[in-house]
Amino acid sequence: MINVTKTYLPNKEKYQKYVDEIFESGLITNSGPKVKELEKRLAKYLGAKNIILVSNGTAALEIAYRTLSLKGFAITTPFSFVATTSSLVTNGISPIFADIDENTLNLNPINIEKLITPHTSAIVPVHVFGNACEVEEIEKIAKKHDLKVIYDAAHAFDVKYKGQSLLNYGDISTLSFHATKLFHTIEGGALIINDDSLVEKARYLINFGIENAESIPHLGTNAKMNEFEAAMGLCVLDDIKIIKEKRKELYEVYKDELKDIVKFQKQNKDSTENYSYFPVVFESEEQLLRVQKVLNENQINPRRYFYPSLDTLGYIEPKQECAVSRDISKKILCLPIYPELRKNEQNMILDILKREIDNGN
Ligand SMILES: Cc1ncc(COP(=O)(O)O)c(C=O)c1O
Repeated sequence: MINVTKTYLPNKEKYQKYVDEIFESGLITNSGPKVKELEKRLAKYLGAKNIILVSNGTAALEIAYRTLSLKGFAITTPFSFVATTSSLVTNGISPIFADIDENTLNLNPINIEKLITPHTSAIVPVHVFGNACEVEEIEKIAKKHDLKVIYDAAHAFDVKYKGQSLLNYGDISTLSFHATKLFHTIEGGALIINDDSLVEKARYLINFGIENAESIPHLGTNAKMNEFEAAMGLCVLDDIKIIKEKRKELYEVYKDELKDIVKFQKQNKDSTENYSYFPVVFESEEQLLRVQKVLNENQINPRRYFYPSLDTLGYIEPKQECAVSRDISKKILCLPIYPELRKNEQNMILDILKREIDNGN
């Protein structure tokens, strides 16, 4: 079976060594030495000054909203994983969807301003598939209307914008380190906080809001990363260069072979790519379903990512409709891309795609 992604597993002996150290120390969670070491190494590697590791990317979003005391409405994108929106709703913030750009697949800044009201407290864009948003345009709008910006950067590990970390834009950026991601910690995530004065509050929030034995100043939750997860992160980080190189090779072959028959996401020209995903946009949903069916028959499972468009979620009020996002979400498929994917497997995927698209024309 070839799935859209496959978890990267590092050298077992190396991980075992860390596990032995954890057993010797007896410290398995509560901001232990491995979590601290990984925070330090990631801050340096990513070029981000304040990084807080948490239990997953959804918790990172929730802690970000609480750290910034968001309320009322947040303008966000309907073309994302459901956690971008559901995390707002569970924190009492109503998502207002601004439609996406049909080429970049990111929230289109042109659609933001007309949705701002006195009750809007933030903008929550997503760097979809690691493609950098129009961060300067978004910053201008946020400044003009005194809004916070939280970037869901779950896909944007290691992306640079104009030579520096993309994660340094916005008030807070959040990452997901789920097992399927480019860099992972089994389950995990992180907050990148640009305002130093907010770091302490976020650290209390991930630990039940506790400051010390006598003081609980905030309404917190439990969002701590444990030592076994951090150890996995330390191992995967050692291999990140080779992980990216392998993905890049596959990415370039897909791009070259498919350039005349499907549409690709338009990349931000000021940012680097991290080769996390390989999304292709078909002419129609019918074409997508036909190709997907034959791939599935051959034990290949690409993923309809993101589908459905989040403005169709039944629990969202008020009801909204974003035509571009709905249209794209019906026509987009992410192809398998992961370091272990073999050349012959990729060729099989390409042959089926080419044949089925050609047959339908
Ligand atoms: C854009 C986006 N945001 C948030 C998340 C949630 O991350 P996690 O699965 O680590 O909770 C994901 C997960 O895939 C995602 O793709």
